[in-house]
Amino acid sequence: MKTEKKMQLALQLVSGYGVESSAWRMPGTDPAAYTNTDSYVEMAKMAEKGKFQMVFIADTPVLGGDLRRQSPTFPMDPMLALMAVARETERIGLVATLSTTFNYPYNLARQFKALDVISHGRVGWNAVTTSNPAAAANFGAQPLSRKERYAMAHESIQIVQALWGSWEEGAWTLDVEGGQFADMDKIKPINLQGHYHGSRGPLAIPPSEQGQPVIFQAGGGYEGLELAGSYASGVYANPYDIESAREQRQAIRQSAVRFGRNPDDIKLIAGFIFSIGSTEEEALDRRRQLMSLASDEIPDRVRYLGAMIGLALSVDAMDINEPIPTEMLKRAYPSPQDPRSPRALELALKGLSIRDILAHGVINYHPVVAGTPTQVADFMEEWFLAEAVDGFSVVPDIAFDGVEDFVNLVVPILQERGLYHEDYEGETLREHMGVPYQYGPL
Ligand SMILES: Cc1cc2nc3c(=O)[nH]c(=O)nc-3n(C[C@H](O)[C@H](O)[C@H](O)COP(=O)(O)O)c2cc1C
Repeated sequence: MKTEKKMQLALQLVSGYGVESSAWRMPGTDPAAYTNTDSYVEMAKMAEKGKFQMVFIADTPVLGGDLRRQSPTFPMDPMLALMAVARETERIGLVATLSTTFNYPYNLARQFKALDVISHGRVGWNAVTTSNPAAAANFGAQPLSRKERYAMAHESIQIVQALWGSWEEGAWTLDVEGGQFADMDKIKPINLQGHYHGSRGPLAIPPSEQGQPVIFQAGGGYEGLELAGSYASGVYANPYDIESAREQRQAIRQSAVRFGRNPDDIKLIAGFIFSIGSTEEEALDRRRQLMSLASDEIPDRVRYLGAMIGLALSVDAMDINEPIPTEMLKRAYPSPQDPRSPRALELALKGLSIRDILAHGVINYHPVVAGTPTQVADFMEEWFLAEAVDGFSVVPDIAFDGVEDFVNLVVPILQERGLYHEDYEGETLREHMGVPYQYGPL
């Protein structure tokens, strides 16, 4: 089936190494990539070569991961990483996550708008409410209820957008002859005061080539949907199967309609992890190697796998290089609480060893596709043609060679199948995403 519509791609930049906690130890990886800004720049340049619409950085202001053996989950600072990327790339969009709960709207407006101007209109803000109690503690705060977090988020985004629009489009006259730098009649305060936040404004930054940054959202529940429907042009989500992706996509589209918007102006971008090999076995070997470098995590992973299929599995009681004994498997059932469980059970019933079930990524946070470039493209095609997603946030297992393999081997297949564009449609992130120009609040 050919499609006119093209999928959009975001490359998730994960603290320089890739998503797997042991990727920092893989041969070829720079073990200090965390502090080496060049690693982010190189990934972004490679993604730009593959015409990705954007790079995307998830971020929570905490020390993520057990650093005794794992690399950090988040970069040192997302905005500074993107600043470096902005200077070394020309087209690709730059999206960072910053919390509406732990930042003043004025600071958010200023940082994102400045980067948007510096990058000539390529920036997006993933506005999240951050429920993590450790993040609250880092700001000397107690965790807030979901209701409060989302009430704050509405205020935050409204103030940020008003500040972005506070400098009218024709305000920057730069009239050297007449001696007028800017027309102060077109630079106005916003005078917004809410329950949690306020700002007088104006912001001291002119419009960018795309007016102002694009808003993204990632969060749960009805409140999350309302926030997305009200303001977001993109939603990052982690559906585990096509059905739930389709439901989530329908829900955000309907939410946009409830707020008087065109449902095509909001894009669902689903995350998945890829491991590429020239055969499926080679891709799985890559994942087995990652697992062997994280051997201290195996006991917990085995226990977790057991919980997913209703069995008490333990490394002390069994050999993980063997399949789960048939007698035990008769009692197995997929946990109704965990959408990943049916696949875990399916692989167990096929007689795979416990190690190999785990190598398939059944307990990863995102779906994992381990296989040939064609298998990765098949997965993406199936989800896209089922109208389950507008695009993907692709998450490399190991960044240093994974991103290159994706761009050189998967992208041409997607293009060949007519699923993905051949080149950028424009210059700005809004143009890449096909979402309308916006200046100030909607
Ligand atoms: C797909 C997805 C990605 C998220 N990414 C981040 C992130 O990068 N940083 C962050 O602080 N919170 C992130 N969140 C968490 C939300 O901000 C929120 O804390 C979480 O969804 C739980 O609260 P909620 O269900 O009330 O939204 C993400 C949530 C989802 C669903």
